[in-house]
Amino acid sequence: MRTKADLSVNFCGIKFKNPFCLSSSPVSNAYEMCARAFDAGWGGIVYKTLGLESTFKIVMPSPRLSVYNYGDKKFVGLQNAEQISDRNINDNIKDIALLKKQYPDKVLISSIMGYNDEDWAILAKMSEDAGADMLELNFSCPQMAIRSAGHRIGQDYESIANYTAIVRNACKIPIMAKMTPNITDMIPVALAAKEGGADAISAINTIKAITDIDIDNYTPLPNIKGHSAATGFSGPSVKPVALRFISDMYNSKKLDLPLSAIGGIETWIDALHFILMGGTTLQVTTAVLRYGYRIVEDMIEGLSDYMIERNINSLDEILGKAAGKIVDPADFNTQYQVVSVIDEEKCIGCGQCYISCHDGANQAIKFDPETRKASVDEERCVGCLLCKHICPVLDCVSYREVDTKVDKHAAIF
Ligand SMILES: Cc1cc2nc3c(=O)[nH]c(=O)nc-3n(C[C@H](O)[C@H](O)[C@H](O)COP(=O)(O)O)c2cc1C
Repeated sequence: MRTKADLSVNFCGIKFKNPFCLSSSPVSNAYEMCARAFDAGWGGIVYKTLGLESTFKIVMPSPRLSVYNYGDKKFVGLQNAEQISDRNINDNIKDIALLKKQYPDKVLISSIMGYNDEDWAILAKMSEDAGADMLELNFSCPQMAIRSAGHRIGQDYESIANYTAIVRNACKIPIMAKMTPNITDMIPVALAAKEGGADAISAINTIKAITDIDIDNYTPLPNIKGHSAATGFSGPSVKPVALRFISDMYNSKKLDLPLSAIGGIETWIDALHFILMGGTTLQVTTAVLRYGYRIVEDMIEGLSDYMIERNINSLDEILGKAAGKIVDPADFNTQYQVVSVIDEEKCIGCGQCYISCHDGANQAIKFDPETRKASVDEERCVGCLLCKHICPVLDCVSYREVDTKVDKHAAIF
């Protein structure tokens, strides 16, 4: 019996010991941090995005973070107003070179952002010469203060194809293009990167958002000396959006490029979800900001146990397995209809399903005030399963298939 699964993946011809990577951000900002992350077990690192200070000097706004807390759940999402690295380019390049020297069998990806044609070429060449295994082209930072950078070109197909082609000509290592989610359809943008010569796509960068407002002084947060902005949002809240973009791209036959999935990954189950939607490698920032590098141990162990239990020998076997089940809603099989079934034994009589169905669905739950038990009126039930999602008791509400009764839907008033 195996005790550890083989988590290695091949991405653009490069072997990663496991798919877990730090995404480009403060978690991958310098040699010392990246060395600790490699020691903790991360398979790869995308270094904090490099730019050329001779073209544009980065000055970070302060304060630059705001969190989205929901009820007693803290850090459901994180808003940041950070730009790319403000460290000296030569210091960063030295750190990349040293990391590759000290950790030759770990994967180091240099994230770059040029502000003009020449910058892109210089940054690509400097990174390759320092030993970076791969490049990530940052076309997607949503709060760059310079006009020709970040998300400002994230929807400009021509610039993306042009800059990718410039990088392609400047170096030989594989290129990954990082996409902005602040867009309706990612595929045309990814195709522009492919046209320019990209070997892979990574997504998502952060979503432009506003997380909080100080109700005493009417200032959204982060309060940067009286002003704020809609800036990059990340963490668990963005995972559903990220899964959608990854599955869109995985399902695109025209695109047909390997994907590095990013957005709200915190546990091995999050990681598995992205693999099932087509992510070969997985990148993480916000969970590391909150819990530190050690979370990779739990993710490795969880994914490994899952593979052993199901006799899965390689992550390739399950790559994209769920993505094919995403269809256009017009193609749903509406002959299939269900109704809820409440297990009377398990019902604790809280009445939450009754209230939700009464005020938010089809008034199909009956509640007996004497026995304090809920039951389903099948004639009214449209099988939306709101009751199942609301019920606090595990497996108390299930559902079963019924004959199609289309006219039932017309009963909503
Ligand atoms: C504080 C902060 C700084 C970031 N800086 C960069 C950056 O320099 N380059 C980049 O490509 N992405 C940057 N990102 C985006 C992350 O790499 C990642 O795409 C995003 O946070 C979603 O992943 P997560 O939910 O795991 O954080 C940054 C994110 C945060 C929170």
